[in-house]
Amino acid sequence: MDSLNPMPPMAQTQAGGDALLDKARRHLIQPWPLVEALGTESRMLLSRSDGIYVYDEQGRRLIDGPAGMWCVQVGHGRPEMAQAIADQVLSLPYYSPWYTTTGPAAELAEKIASYAPGDLDFVFFTTGGSTAVDSALRLVQFYNNVRGRPEKKIIIARQGGYHGSTYLTATCSGKPRDKGLMDQASDIVRHLFAPYPYRRPEGMSVEAFCDFLVEELERTILELGPERVACFVAEPILASGGVIVPPEGYQRRMEAVCRKYDVLTIADEVVTGFGRLGEMFTSETLFGLKPDMITFAKGVTSGYIPLGGIVISRRLIEEMKATGNGAAMFANGYTYSSHPVACAAALKNIEIIERERLCEHVREVGPYFQARLQELAELPIVGEVRGMGLMACIECVSDRTSREPLALDQEVGRRIDRHCQELGLIVRPMGYLCVMSPPLIITRAQIDEMVSILRQGIERTQDDLRREGLWRG
Ligand SMILES: Cc1ncc(COP(=O)(O)O)c(C=O)c1O
Repeated sequence: MDSLNPMPPMAQTQAGGDALLDKARRHLIQPWPLVEALGTESRMLLSRSDGIYVYDEQGRRLIDGPAGMWCVQVGHGRPEMAQAIADQVLSLPYYSPWYTTTGPAAELAEKIASYAPGDLDFVFFTTGGSTAVDSALRLVQFYNNVRGRPEKKIIIARQGGYHGSTYLTATCSGKPRDKGLMDQASDIVRHLFAPYPYRRPEGMSVEAFCDFLVEELERTILELGPERVACFVAEPILASGGVIVPPEGYQRRMEAVCRKYDVLTIADEVVTGFGRLGEMFTSETLFGLKPDMITFAKGVTSGYIPLGGIVISRRLIEEMKATGNGAAMFANGYTYSSHPVACAAALKNIEIIERERLCEHVREVGPYFQARLQELAELPIVGEVRGMGLMACIECVSDRTSREPLALDQEVGRRIDRHCQELGLIVRPMGYLCVMSPPLIITRAQIDEMVSILRQGIERTQDDLRREGLWRG
């Protein structure tokens, strides 16, 4: 793998690292902080990265298990990415998308539309995943207003879903822990059950569970009144909810119910897009869907530069035009919409994904990754190992028969992550879940190394919990 810096990783001096951590503690607020951590917390200091690895301030090498945040598809430290970004900065770093167009934005819009299913031909660029989903939801509202249906406003989302951190997208997210003391736009959002086969009602088959979920959607639309229900927003696989893979046929059946009641569908492919499941977009190729919009972000630039966006059905645009209300303005957009440097980074990133056949690579190593991880299901603390492509989750339980989750305050995910970090791997802990989504360039040998460390990390955690009397497995 090529490397931006051919030198061996330089260790930060201890004093230099400490000074940076001190500055962070005193001035830097990072996402999802606890009140008690404000002004006192400093997170791991990283100094550089290369391929599937990141290096901490002592120069220690760690496998990047989550690919940053599901995003570093082509791996870290690619000189080509640096060059493409530098070239664009030197030729035209920025101009207002309100008045001008740039080459990279036009080229990227065409490229993304070419990968999108059906008549999803139009692309609107945002600054990340939250702004992509937020813009998609606002476009749904606008579309119904233009069409003279201002009462059609309710958004249906799901428990366990995650759609971002704006007021509206955070309301659509369905993770109770994130809701706590944050205000919500609850008047226009309803949540359905998570399509979570492992946590389905006791005694119910997966098929019956799927029927139940589809019926729940139809019942909800009918109870609210189809004339009031605007859209269904859903990740094809619920990523941050714990890589929840819905039952077979679920996505298609949910879409059919939406079509029946003229409810638009938004496939949130912020995580699943750009190769993570071996496809550029998964909606149609893997799940047989034809959504009205697809949202994307993360993997579109491999995280080198922030970018997100929506691919929008031509039909929606034509229906709005057909109203004759041409003077209506979709008053939504960002200073950094269509940012030329971000678009140039995305074009180079997609070129690398295509040239190195990374989707084919994921289709090849994905099943191996899943099979190797399945071996960890024999560990007594592991309730379920699940996933698809290069997305996976290990769910820990206090009892494998009752499937009782381990108490959150035991921080089992964090404990596993701590042990794994000592052994050279970062995992993403979430309560009693550990989530993994390595860079797409990962090899079989690196998967073996990852799984071996993970096994040791889980075994050490089991030993600690037993010793502390917190688990009797
Ligand atoms: C499915 C999904 N949608 C939206 C978002 C929000 O993206 P961002 O954090 O780039 O705003 C995320 C972030 O993890 C996500 O997983």
